[in-house]
Amino acid sequence: MYMRNGWYALAWSEEVTGELHKRAVMGRDLLFYRAEDGQPVAMDNTCPHRFAPLHYGQRVGNSVRCAYHGLEFDRTGMCVLNPHGEGFIPPAARLRAYPLRECHGLVWIWMGQPELAAATELPPGLDFLHVKSGLTRAKGYLLVKADYRLIADNLMDQAHVPILHARSIGTDTTKVPIELTREPRRVKVAQSTYGVRPAPFARQLLPGVDLVDRWGDMQWDAPSLFHVDSGSTPAGAGREHGARMFTAHLLTPASVDSTHYFFISCRTFQLDDAATTEAIRSNVEQVFVREDQWMLEAIQQTMGSADFFDARPALIQTDAGVVATRRALQRLIELEQQAADTPASHPLPLPKETP
Ligand code: FES
Ligand SMILES: [Fe+2]
Repeated sequence: MYMRNGWYALAWSEEVTGELHKRAVMGRDLLFYRAEDGQPVAMDNTCPHRFAPLHYGQRVGNSVRCAYHGLEFDRTGMCVLNPHGEGFIPPAARLRAYPLRECHGLVWIWMGQPELAAATELPPGLDFLHVKSGLTRAKGYLLVKADYRLIADNLMDQAHVPILHARSIGTDTTKVPIELTREPRRVKVAQSTYGVRPAPFARQLLPGVDLVDRWGDMQWDAPSLFHVDSGSTPAGAGREHGARMFTAHLLTPASVDSTHYFFISCRTFQLDDAATTEAIRSNVEQVFVREDQWMLEAIQQTMGSADFFDARPALIQTDAGVVATRRALQRLIELEQQAADTPASHPLPLPKETP
């Protein structure tokens, strides 16, 4: 169901404050906050005493105090204060705390075996989010009521763009081939087309341009990072001279049928133009919220808890990227489960690349 040994976006950095917040991840109700010393903290949100949600409590320095009877827990989840009687702290008075990292303007959480977290790098390819200059960024967050894999399907699927997104980023690319590349932890789908009519959104960004070259190169890195290099440029001008965007999509499963969806779009053109920023912001809203989200939530309603492959989808040629990503993820989940079942509890070697 979930690949746990991997870094997932928990929150944008600015969401993690001295206040107590809650957010579900992989079906667990989590508490997160920023300790007095500035470090982010995440732990289970259920007090082990009589199960009060801890986010109703109070942060005390680096620790948190439960609102019900006042037990206090430090950032490692240990109960460090029982204000009652002789102050005895039962051994069961402890919470699971989760490894975190803060990077690229996000706080990342590790839901798997804690001992593997330190040696595992963050998802690659995100430096553009905070390192490269000459980019203007627009970002957002949505809670989508759909299994994270349905959103992944959507991101790896070029075929829905000319249909579902006909009023925003779609133009007639139904006959344009899609190039697929597979590795055990990475899948890429790339599509380029030359000398076509611009999509409605590209017309807005490139007024007066009748024909464009357009591209969309999407890459998935396990477990949950999708980044896309996309854009349109006046036909023949080259990618550097058009409306080019680098966008990262980060999916964090909230539950079996809901997903935290973080996205950030960085553009290389019209950097100081507020009208362009607003056009991109409203286009993102149009594409994700008004076009994708309702469809994904409707599919979730239709599918319920059915497994995608068990439901025997009538796959078409353009589903190759979707299927490759689903299969790679499933393989990684199986390997993780096998590793967890072995006594040494070490990760198994990765599968060999398949043609
Ligand atoms: S339920 Fe938290 S201190 Fe009692
Ligand atoms: Fe879409």
